[in-house]
Amino acid sequence: MSKSWKTKLIHSDAKVPEGYRSLATPTFRGSTTVFPSASVVNDTWDQWQVGYTYGLYGTPTVLELAGRICELESGTHTIITPGGQAAISLINLALLQSGDHMLVPSSVYYPNRKLATRLLSRFGISTDFYDPAAGANIASLIEDNTRLIWCESPGSITMEIQDLPAIVAAAHARNIRVVLDNTWSAGVLLDAFAHGVDITMQAITKYIGGHSDLLLGSITVRDDSLYQRLGAAQQVIGCAVSPDDCSLALRGMQTLAVRLSAIETSALAVAKWLSARQEIERVLHPAFPSCPGHEFWKRDFLGSSGVFSIVFKPGPTQKQVHAFVDALKLFEVGYSWGGVASLAVAYKLGRIPGRPSYDHRIVRLNIGLEATPDLIQDLEQALSQLSA
Ligand SMILES: Cc1ncc(COP(=O)(O)O)c(C=O)c1O
Repeated sequence: MSKSWKTKLIHSDAKVPEGYRSLATPTFRGSTTVFPSASVVNDTWDQWQVGYTYGLYGTPTVLELAGRICELESGTHTIITPGGQAAISLINLALLQSGDHMLVPSSVYYPNRKLATRLLSRFGISTDFYDPAAGANIASLIEDNTRLIWCESPGSITMEIQDLPAIVAAAHARNIRVVLDNTWSAGVLLDAFAHGVDITMQAITKYIGGHSDLLLGSITVRDDSLYQRLGAAQQVIGCAVSPDDCSLALRGMQTLAVRLSAIETSALAVAKWLSARQEIERVLHPAFPSCPGHEFWKRDFLGSSGVFSIVFKPGPTQKQVHAFVDALKLFEVGYSWGGVASLAVAYKLGRIPGRPSYDHRIVRLNIGLEATPDLIQDLEQALSQLSA
């Protein structure tokens, strides 16, 4: 049929040569997914089963990222979410209902706590926060209506490593699912499923993205019934992800091994240097005996990444701790670690129940890919200003 130039803008007959191959995953964008015929149209979310149906459930770029994360974590199904926090909320909304109870470590990433106390509580879901060192003692906190136990290892900011197998054993004895925020290990330095965890999530935003330029999360499971519940919830909540961000994550993933290895070496050197400084009371790095749960890190993890905290000896005021952070020239001040730039954030923990009494004396560091001696030099000059 003949076409006006206006129609040609939309329906073109122009052809390009076939047979192109490259090393990069193409970025497939699309809300509408075109069906081959009227009779096969359906709105089923599980595109791994039924083929592509709608952009909300992912284009091939999104599913490729899901497939690769699933492979890395040795799961059977992975769902990509718009961020790590979206993964946390999707898990809770998919698996809990009014009248249910969950246990969350007091060391958890703060927005995870806020979701429980400010939003899930409004829907009749109750939460108790437990000592991350609970191990097998968690059994005494389990209620008849406990459905989910969250773990995060290491804990945010205070870096406690949890005894996952002990928690899993207590949970499974009561038929309760265990979910792990495995962001610190990038899903590769701790084999969560081998330790009995039922659901893992991570903020792809951090190490897999690796360059501080995207927000994504993932949820991985080994159990088909969990996957069905998570997928059905994702469909109706409508949390779609950008294929462009997934393309960046796929690129970042290819250099994850070399970045993590360089970051681990540098972070260990910086942490060791800091642990010898007289201003520092404690270095909270999982590979150091001064970190709570270090023995579980040694037993369960394959290595360490680049986020750890330092606790100053009592003395400096909050203003002085802020002045130390502000004096740093290479470390930027900002959230979202796992990129190539080193970061420092000072916290005041006093107002969060169940957290150690470090108060304003704790600073979390993210070690990036700058030269280690430069980072140490930077810390040294900032520390000297603290004592000046
Ligand atoms: C341990 C942990 N889990 C989850 C998240 C949330 O990830 P996102 O920023 O992608 O929502 C973060 C972010 O800082 C985190 O540190």
